[in-house]
Amino acid sequence: MYICLEGIDGSGKSTQIGMLEKWLKDIGQTVKIVREPTESDVGILIRKMLKSSQATEENFQNTLALLFAADRTILMEEVGEAESSGEIIISDRCFYSSMVYQNNTDWIAQINKHVKKPDITILLDLETETALKRCDGQDHFENKIFLEKIRKRYLDLAEKEEFYVINANNGLNKIHHDIKRVLSPKFGLCI
Ligand code: TYD
Repeated sequence: MYICLEGIDGSGKSTQIGMLEKWLKDIGQTVKIVREPTESDVGILIRKMLKSSQATEENFQNTLALLFAADRTILMEEVGEAESSGEIIISDRCFYSSMVYQNNTDWIAQINKHVKKPDITILLDLETETALKRCDGQDHFENKIFLEKIRKRYLDLAEKEEFYVINANNGLNKIHHDIKRVLSPKFGLCI
């Protein structure tokens, strides 16, 4: 099973992924955590580019979209192998991030044609003000106007693609509980 957590920068994905990993292991699952951008050479280049002041410009975004798709295509081999050995893959972001951040939906879908669609996508939805307080401000995506736009695009996409939307303004344990409530039935559990 391929589970993806999505959300604006600072939405608390990493913390929730840690809590989710522990719970899944406690219920006897084997878990693999992946993260985009990855640690591949392409992923390292992407992280460097995200710090550029041009990061929110259109041409730069198109270049990033191609690099993200390449990085993700490399990652798919690992995801495929983990899936065939019955592991639960939890991914910090997936191609949906490209759809909202790079925002050229049809083209993004084309260049990600060979990429797997997650079985379950959970969107951690958070007020941008709270999110910004948690960011280190190093990336140029981490500004209020940009993040507001991203948050809205996430919510629009959530309707089209049937994401599970979780209110990430709540405390950590409540958010974790809400995530478990979404996933429990998939493992035949009831919480
Ligand atoms: P990262 O430091 O990992 O942020 P976070 O912890 O919030 O995930 O940087 C990832 C950044 O890359 C984040 O700002 C979102 C952006 N991104 C895209 O623009 N497109 C993509 O396809 C992906 C996967 C990430």
